[in-house]
Amino acid sequence: MKNYFSIKDIDSLDNWVKEAIELKKNPLRDVSLGTNKTIGMLFFNPSLRTRLSTQKAALNLGMNVMVMNFTGEGWSLEYGDGTVMDQGTSEHVKEAAQVVSQYCDVLAIRAFAKLEDREEDYEEKVLKSFIEYASIPIVNMESSVGHPLQALTDAITITEHKKTNKPKVVLSWAPHPKALPQAVANSFVEMMQRMDADFVITHPVGFELASQITNEVPIDYNQQNAFKDADFVYVKNWSAYHDYGKTSKDSSWMITQEKMKLTNNAKFMHCLPVRRNVVVEDTVLDSENSIVIEQANNRTFAAQLVLKKILKNI
Ligand code: CP
Repeated sequence: MKNYFSIKDIDSLDNWVKEAIELKKNPLRDVSLGTNKTIGMLFFNPSLRTRLSTQKAALNLGMNVMVMNFTGEGWSLEYGDGTVMDQGTSEHVKEAAQVVSQYCDVLAIRAFAKLEDREEDYEEKVLKSFIEYASIPIVNMESSVGHPLQALTDAITITEHKKTNKPKVVLSWAPHPKALPQAVANSFVEMMQRMDADFVITHPVGFELASQITNEVPIDYNQQNAFKDADFVYVKNWSAYHDYGKTSKDSSWMITQEKMKLTNNAKFMHCLPVRRNVVVEDTVLDSENSIVIEQANNRTFAAQLVLKKILKNI
């Protein structure tokens, strides 16, 4: 594997999940693999988990790590071909990507959707430009369209906690005061189509994700109905795909203890960060059924597996 751009880069999901669970038992088993190799991590947006877990993963593999918060610190990048650069952009991605390739052996990038122009966001201009012009492998740390490190983490976490071969998994939209990208939901939906799960999505009318991502996955517009007998409730806000970037604070969709009682004693999952008592009630997040911290811990082993596979291929 050269790049980890989307979950399509996972050749055998079962093997990857098994290998990540093995890595977790002995995280330093491959500590020599990354000796004298450097990962560069470019952030165009904030992060807690992705930044620290990917850094931890690289350290577990013996790599050197360089982190740059690009927004506010890096030059403003130009992506257009043939642009007369006499406006706000200072450096073209063609040079930036090649220059970073001189200093690093692997490059990980976070660049969220701007939620202004759907076509532009779904072109994945930032990640795809770096893939085109860099000479080193690229890892997606959340792009406009997907968050494949999170989705791999979620597959690992569900596998560790499932009690049946085919658990019922519900992806539920929840309210949020700010418009958020669809990336986490998109990658989770793609992942659930690859796992053996009885999977259903629930959200208000108007919050349908892209049909090229949801395919035949059932959508239930009645959240309480969707929760019935669920083994896992995965919660995430996303803004509208069709009425692009529209959000809603409809508190009737907040996850409550009452709603969780409808489930089969379901585990509560969220990628974090989460807004307490807006997205989910304290009582749910603080309950024994909440596995959000374990989920965050598994980010390290998902990232470590991806970096290990890339390092073996360099
Ligand atoms: N889940 C996740 O990607 O968290 P951060 O935004 O803090 O990295």
